[in-house]
Amino acid sequence: MRQVACPAPPTKEHAVSDSKALDQVTLTAGDKAVALPVLKPTLGNDCVDISRLTKETGLFTYDSGFTATASCKSAVTYIDGDKGVLLYRGYPIEQLAEHSNFLEVAYLLMNGELPSKEAFSAFENEVTHHTMMHEKLKNFLQGFNYDAHPMAMLAASVASLSAFYHDTLDLEDPEQRRLAAIRLIAKVPTLAAAAYRYSIGWPIRYPRNNVGYVDRFLHMMFELPSEPLEMNPVVAKALDLLFILHADHEQNASTSTVRLVGSTGANPYASVAAGITALWGPAHGGANEAVLKMLDEIGTADKVETAVARAKDKSDPFRLMGFGHRVYKNFDPRAKIIREMTHKVLGELGVDDPLLEVAMKLEEAALKDEYFVERKLYPNVDFYSGIIYKALKIPTEMFTVMFAIGRTAGWVAHWLEQQVDPEMKIGRPRQIYTGYDVRDYKGAGDR
Ligand code: SDX
Repeated sequence: MRQVACPAPPTKEHAVSDSKALDQVTLTAGDKAVALPVLKPTLGNDCVDISRLTKETGLFTYDSGFTATASCKSAVTYIDGDKGVLLYRGYPIEQLAEHSNFLEVAYLLMNGELPSKEAFSAFENEVTHHTMMHEKLKNFLQGFNYDAHPMAMLAASVASLSAFYHDTLDLEDPEQRRLAAIRLIAKVPTLAAAAYRYSIGWPIRYPRNNVGYVDRFLHMMFELPSEPLEMNPVVAKALDLLFILHADHEQNASTSTVRLVGSTGANPYASVAAGITALWGPAHGGANEAVLKMLDEIGTADKVETAVARAKDKSDPFRLMGFGHRVYKNFDPRAKIIREMTHKVLGELGVDDPLLEVAMKLEEAALKDEYFVERKLYPNVDFYSGIIYKALKIPTEMFTVMFAIGRTAGWVAHWLEQQVDPEMKIGRPRQIYTGYDVRDYKGAGDR
């Protein structure tokens, strides 16, 4: 099994701020002093509860991009950006990467505990028997042009699932909520593979029940009608690990989108479809596809210095895709694991990809450059994953779809958690209004 160095997981002593003694903070607004309670997490930053602020002072708070704002309480995932720590339900990502598999991680994220052998077998069996998509969805995909981006087809087909599964739309019924989560974990790979097959003009392959989750996906992606697909355990293992590493990541943009849509009472398929569209952006999950395009554009290692210079030039919109992270200001633990896996997988598959040399040169140049060091910009989960997907013969436009398959486990876990959160309210942020003051209408002749 892979040996992956695992940093000591944080403990309560690692509480980020020395605010252990702080039970409240006092905000002075003019002649008013408002005491605001401080909420204590299991791990990480203490939070000031500002829910009384506006009522007591008339003030809003402003935090563009929510860089320091907690939108909810969650027990699913913990990230320590300074220490490069990522825990799924308390388990370090390095240990899950070494010992677990994606379907077990999906169970863990959904249920909060690792499954017993019997529980896992029942879970795997249930997922396996929900992998088929409704036949009418094949016609649905026919409505797209062959060159539609697979993320467009995936988002649309996931949103359409509510039209087929009316038995999972009563959100007051815990069993219906659970079954919707199972269906999403089971069907997203089927829909993803169907979108790919449609885009290359191949017939859709039905999911096979006699193989595991990842082999089933590879079969649906690459099995030719004319010959059986020879499964490669190296490919399946690499893909399973990539799905684990992409499964969840706290309140990232797409997960926050799933929660925002879920907070309105929208059905789980619509909520996850919204997450898929949010993930598509190149600043988020779309970065893995953008990294490959960037590496292709750079072309050879001798052009790396020019690329780094362009990334630093404020007048140039070019950024080093796959670098930087809102939370990780040290290193992305997933990137470390994927980096090691890249060399192993390409070696085992005998793939000699010149883009790997460009990526390594780019990483080396950036990590030595003051601009990146000063801004704490390190390779993130998307920097190397595209090189592995390419070695696994996954086409570039499918990279973000791969991210969505893994992240579906996290999205449904957060959606389920939110649905039973007693403090959940409909998400409705305020704003700083910068428009006109009130003014009277003028007829066309007076303008
Ligand atoms: C994911 O949230 C998550 O957890 C996301 C994710 C998950 O698992 O869900 O981890 C997955 O989305 C990973 C990130 C993938 N995106 C990219 O690789 C795209 C390239 N990276 C950036 O666009 C950027 O780093 C972000 C979007 C990831 C983070 O942006 P922030 O936190 O808003 O930081 P910023 O844009 O304010 O940048 C701070 C400074 C700026 O310079 P100054 O104004 O201070 O001079 O760093 C610069 C930025 O210009 N900067 C970069 C850069 N990223 C930031 N400069 C060059 N290249 C980059 N990649």
